[in-house]
Amino acid sequence: RRAPLLAPSFLAADLANLQAETERLATSAADWLHFDVMDGRFVPNISFGLPVLQAVARYARQPIDVHLMIEEPQNYLAAFRDAGAAGLTVHHEACPHLHRVVQQIKQLGCRAGVALNPATPVSVLVDIAADLDVVLVMSVNPGFGGQAFIPHTLAKIAALKELLLDTGSDALIEVDGGVNADNAGALVQAGADVLVAGNFVFSSPGGPVAALAALRAQLD
Ligand code: DX5
Ligand code: ZN
Repeated sequence: RRAPLLAPSFLAADLANLQAETERLATSAADWLHFDVMDGRFVPNISFGLPVLQAVARYARQPIDVHLMIEEPQNYLAAFRDAGAAGLTVHHEACPHLHRVVQQIKQLGCRAGVALNPATPVSVLVDIAADLDVVLVMSVNPGFGGQAFIPHTLAKIAALKELLLDTGSDALIEVDGGVNADNAGALVQAGADVLVAGNFVFSSPGGPVAALAALRAQLD
């Protein structure tokens, strides 16, 4: 199997020092930089958006993986691409016309991802899976960092893996929420290709670079 990709989430970074945070991640084991956009509508919290992405992108050395927890994401895709997104992930629950949105993301030249809330079954992806580059499985309810991992996610990843095989999809499975050194191994075993981690990485006593190195060493 492929070594999993690590994607630290800026939501847990020191937001008053984003240049320094981005620069220290540049030489870390991070493969992608995860950027959580929240609109206070789709999720009950507001984080940061386009101008902050543009600022981070000036210092980023890894592709920026933008997770849009917003309503009507189709209205902002080009703007997020222009601000520096390499990948754009929209929520299934926010997109009645998901097929169109996915094609729009691909036409912009970005990796196309679809995220599923904890209560959304993987079966909703059966007719779109082959078009996707990434499926993001939420392992907490989106809106906040630092929440506890929902254990049912492991079974969900296994079911998704099967669905991707059945539909001939080569989409990566990304897991987001409550990921830490204790559950990372089981997540990769279940089929996760990309691990997002916020609090585990940025709140670890040794700092994010050491936390990412330890995770990498544990998983390789
Ligand atoms: C939650 C966000 C996550 C969050 C993860 O809505 O999508 O990316 O930053 O943070 P932790 O790893 O602390 O759960
Ligand atoms: Zn996220």
